[in-house]
Amino acid sequence: MKSDMLRIKTKGVKMKTKMGVVFVALVLVSVIYGVGRGSDRERVYSVEELGQFDGSDPTKPIYIGMDGLVYDVSAGKEYYVTGGPYHDLAGKDSSEELKVAGGEIIRRKYPVVGSLKKSK
Ligand code: HEM
Repeated sequence: MKSDMLRIKTKGVKMKTKMGVVFVALVLVSVIYGVGRGSDRERVYSVEELGQFDGSDPTKPIYIGMDGLVYDVSAGKEYYVTGGPYHDLAGKDSSEELKVAGGEIIRRKYPVVGSLKKSK
């Protein structure tokens, strides 16, 4: 009887420890993920740097600058690769062109990976 009590208690402590470990792991994952996302947005690109990501090199992601932010449009690469209908919008600050059409689609569809350095 006594040893039964002891065993149940020990099991309870073990369960608590397990839940504690899971909790700490969850907190760590969300902090690391949050910091990661934060630093993505804080990454600042100059227009010259953006030029490398214009869809002409299949090994690189494709970026578009718009209203001070940099969007990763790689998921829609068929539009932006060399020969694609919107290749001219890629790898640069296309804020003006995207006021005419397409800006809203980009904002809705693609992740922000950084901000655009103000050109002097
Ligand atoms: C200066 C003119 C234009 C600009 C800057 C522009 C830009 C864009 C952009 C950035 C997208 C988003 C592509 C993506 O999903 O990544 C888009 C989508 C599209 N555009 Fe244009 N576009 C222009 C004119 C036109 C014209 C004249 C047509 C048709 C004759 C057209 C037809 C389309 C279509 C069908 C889509 C796909 C819409 C969707 O996925 O919901 N665009 N455009």
